[in-house]
Amino acid sequence: MPEATFRIHRYDPERDGDRRWQEFTVPYENSLTVLEGLFYIQENLDGSISFRYCCRAAVCGSCAMYINGRYRLACQTNVKNLEDAPITVEPLPRMPLVKDLVCDMTDFFAKYEYIKPYIMHESQYPEKETLQSPEDRHKLDNPVDCILCGSCYSSCPSVWGEDNYLGPAALLWAYRFEADTRDEARKARLSSFDNERGVYRCHTITNCVEACPKELNPTEAIQWLKGAAVRRRIFGRWK
Ligand code: SF4
Ligand code: F3S
Repeated sequence: MPEATFRIHRYDPERDGDRRWQEFTVPYENSLTVLEGLFYIQENLDGSISFRYCCRAAVCGSCAMYINGRYRLACQTNVKNLEDAPITVEPLPRMPLVKDLVCDMTDFFAKYEYIKPYIMHESQYPEKETLQSPEDRHKLDNPVDCILCGSCYSSCPSVWGEDNYLGPAALLWAYRFEADTRDEARKARLSSFDNERGVYRCHTITNCVEACPKELNPTEAIQWLKGAAVRRRIFGRWK
């Protein structure tokens, strides 16, 4: 059976707090993913290694990592498709670290909550359901695929330079609800992205587009929000 060398980023604040690399040899068959390689290491070679995962189907976003110099989901990265050896596995760059491959996502999710990521109605108890045409639903096809993995956020130089900036993922979700014809909270949500933390901090660097393992386009969404914010400020147009 062929073998792959995994070169893994290690960090344990309770041990010595130093960052280091550790190599492991993992036997593999054709279908082995990087996540399954990490399971092998944890179960057979070193039980202390820490990483996040959940669905194993590229829909929960938990296993986003920096693998061979690229943002990837460990569960959908096949070892046999990685050209460079050894396989380097790092946590999302420039994120605060908890341990080994586990980042602290507290700020990331706080910023997501800040943009009010849910449909709001003027009436708490609307008398009838709110319908949406297939065409209008189609406009949301791109942002609803976001799995909140944090790769775009980790890759964005504006986030690196400004802790307060909401970042590409939260703003993609602001777009998702702004563009939803069923939402009636335009003024409330506008105040969350039309401010010094919001869309004006994006300098169109587009790292976020390159990083996204779901091939989404936060840059385009942010430009749409900028246009909407300016139209409302200047012309008072809410649609
Ligand atoms: Fe991850 Fe892409 Fe969503 Fe950013 S936009 S959180 S990279 S799925
Ligand atoms: Fe950052 Fe993407 Fe804008 S990388 S600066 S959010 S285009």
